[in-house]
Amino acid sequence: MALLDITDLRVEIAGPGAARLALVDGLSLTLERGQSLGLVGESGCGKSMTALAAMGLLPPGLRARGRLTLDGEDLVTASEPRLCGLRGRRLAMIFQEPMTALNPVRTIGSQVAEGPRRHLGLTRRQARAHARAVLDRVGLDPGRFPPGLYPHQLSGGQRQRVVIAIAVACGPELLIADEPTTALDVATQALILDLINDLVAERTMALLMISHDLGVIAETAPRLAVMYAGRVVESGPTARVLAAPRHPYTRGLMGAIPRGRGAPGAPLAAIPGVVPAPDRRPSGCAFADRCPRADAACATTPALRPDTSDQAVACHHPHERPDPTGSVAP
Ligand SMILES: Nc1ncnc2c1ncn2[C@@H]1O[C@H](COP(=O)(O)OP(=O)(O)OP(=O)(O)O)[C@@H](O)[C@H]1O
Ligand code: SF4
Ligand SMILES: [Mg+2]
Repeated sequence: MALLDITDLRVEIAGPGAARLALVDGLSLTLERGQSLGLVGESGCGKSMTALAAMGLLPPGLRARGRLTLDGEDLVTASEPRLCGLRGRRLAMIFQEPMTALNPVRTIGSQVAEGPRRHLGLTRRQARAHARAVLDRVGLDPGRFPPGLYPHQLSGGQRQRVVIAIAVACGPELLIADEPTTALDVATQALILDLINDLVAERTMALLMISHDLGVIAETAPRLAVMYAGRVVESGPTARVLAAPRHPYTRGLMGAIPRGRGAPGAPLAAIPGVVPAPDRRPSGCAFADRCPRADAACATTPALRPDTSDQAVACHHPHERPDPTGSVAP
């Protein structure tokens, strides 16, 4: 059984009458124990909504429908007390903006100790010692960064280390990282990604790494799912998908990376247009109005179909694999 199993997930806003707007619109993915999966897509595709649905933290007015299970337990129908018991202990999340993820009026030590006190049954003193050890592990040596510091006394990268310490303090099986490095400078980004990779490996956690940056995904996740307008449009082993993307959207994302293919100084091939708002998606394939391959067949929604090389694509006219055996140079 997969650790995280999401099938046909919809995140909806209830509208007037029976009208419902789907921010996430039939998303399916699975994540095995100890595995890392990257979820990539442009801004507004629904990546954060997917993560928040898994955490049971959707904003008021939004609701999840479909199948979303953690180790077989249904998270969509779980009660709030049950979700409180799971969050932090079995699944945890690192948020994009460390300042808003931390409580500004509580010390970093007390924020890290809170989960272990609640979930691991530690005394106040034991939880404090545990928090010091976890802060030390994430690179905040208590000699230089005493647990009595407040978030505003730390840099952005140091705060993100505190957020990571809170997330891993109770040894969750699933870690969801939603753009954990986007708010940081490039050098700090690399250090934080290394830290997450090391923690995931040493604790055999499963990782759902969410990013708009294919480079971040390539560094952290051996498998990836590409999301567009609320759905997965391509998935498979990261190296294979990046070497031979089959969906026109994945190709477009790769063409838009500054360090992507092409001669130095060559202009980036931006994808024309923007991700449609949930109430403005074309019927049929939602990528149709930006896609160079669109034709009449694209008026129906393509299903996500696996090919023989463990790559799945939702497109009526996918790009061919470069060689008929499907082998891709490492
Ligand atoms: N509270 C909300 N109520 C209604 N719509 C929302 C709400 N929050 C987000 N949305 C919409 O849901 C869609 C998906 O948003 P989401 O935050 O999941 O995107 P994302 O892929 O995480 O983007 P980003 O890369 O910018 O973080 C967007 O169209 C967004 O405008
Ligand atoms: S289904 Fe059609 S419009 Fe959609 S990505 Fe494929 S070719 Fe383009
Ligand atoms: Mg987001």
